[in-house]
Amino acid sequence: MSKILVLHGPNLNLLGMREPEIYGRETLDDINEMLEKQAAAQGVEVEFLQSNHEGVLVDAIQQAPRNGVAFIILNAAAFTHYSIAIRDAIAAIEVPVIEVHISNVHTREEFRHHSVIAPVVMGQILGFGIDSYFGAMAVALKKIKALY
Ligand code: DQA
Repeated sequence: MSKILVLHGPNLNLLGMREPEIYGRETLDDINEMLEKQAAAQGVEVEFLQSNHEGVLVDAIQQAPRNGVAFIILNAAAFTHYSIAIRDAIAAIEVPVIEVHISNVHTREEFRHHSVIAPVVMGQILGFGIDSYFGAMAVALKKIKALY
């Protein structure tokens, strides 16, 4: 059975109390719970991982094909803007990745405008608050149904 891996990068463990005017009031657990329900309604399993450590995310991306992951939903947070290691890990696997951001990074500081992972992901969903995650999940579920 195919599954979806949801990866959250640094500082996303602080959602709910971190700059709520930008990131909202929901906690990471709230978001994961809603994503889980969204996938379960389609009979698809989801795994979640949050890490503040680049290498942990690289390991998870590398291991995804071996772990039966059909799709990755990734909010790489600050790593989006400079982690060549995460970019290379995505490029090394055939599992499609959807890049997600809660905020519209293009309306924020200049350093957030560039994503080093953008060229190696299937697509980006950003700027819709936590609905960016649910949009990405809807796409992943639809694509998985088309594959299996
Ligand atoms: C973020 C945007 C990034 O620029 C930032 O470093 C984050 C969160 C978002 O979801 O809007 O930590 O990825």
